[in-house]
Amino acid sequence: SRPDALPRDLVGLRIVVSAGGTREPLDPVRYLGNRSSGKQGYALARTAAARGAEVTLVSAHTLPLPEPAGVAVVRVDTAEQLREAVHTAAEAADVVVMAAAVADFRPAERAEYKIKKTGRDPEPVALVRNPDVLAELVEARRARPDRKDQLIVGFAAETGDSGSDVLDHARAKLARKGCDLLVVNAVGEGKAFGTEDNSGWLLSSDGTEVPIALKSKSQMSTEVWDTVANMLGSARR
Ligand code: CTP
Ligand code: CA
Repeated sequence: SRPDALPRDLVGLRIVVSAGGTREPLDPVRYLGNRSSGKQGYALARTAAARGAEVTLVSAHTLPLPEPAGVAVVRVDTAEQLREAVHTAAEAADVVVMAAAVADFRPAERAEYKIKKTGRDPEPVALVRNPDVLAELVEARRARPDRKDQLIVGFAAETGDSGSDVLDHARAKLARKGCDLLVVNAVGEGKAFGTEDNSGWLLSSDGTEVPIALKSKSQMSTEVWDTVANMLGSARR
């Protein structure tokens, strides 16, 4: 990947990418977390910057990854912090990509002190829902005429189940979220989480469905930015 071989087609665009997994505290030393590596979000940020965009990367927890060159990195811990950072950066953004694995739930209580084991059986952990940042971004755009050209991209890792397959779940998610583009990863069977390669589909709100073959996360990023550049181009025409 020679940066000088990339098109400079994202010059002048302000892009926000979220990456990694949030951690939801139980007490000062424990949390509920997930296995997001952050690799896809970092690859997206790096590629966008190399193609000329002004990129803010809102990074939750990731494996150790090199800081992408020329990218402003904002580090966050919890879903609530990620939400604040993404909404702030999204104010002036042309494109927002939610590649982060945001915890759907958090412990209802955060113990002030480390939870001690007692002689009794442990209490169950009560959970409450976290806000859906992606859905909020779509809502914020709807409420703000100056943001109507903002492009909002979601990610979905789907396994399918006995009732319906990966694409059914993904189409329903695209409709539910109201974003412009949904990057769908087929997971399970050793795919995605923490691996180098992704495979799946790019689903657009206009009904376009483009399958993506097994590729590196960097090649996947290229496909995403090609599609975004296309969508922005046809919106402006
Ligand atoms: N997302 C978000 N805020 C949340 C949960 C998810 O912004 N609280 C975003 C993710 O960053 C991703 C998209 O929503 O871009 C889809 O996430 P996913 O977990 O696949 O969808 P959910 O709506 O949470 O549905 P489920 O986990 O039940 O499949
Ligand atoms: Ca989820």
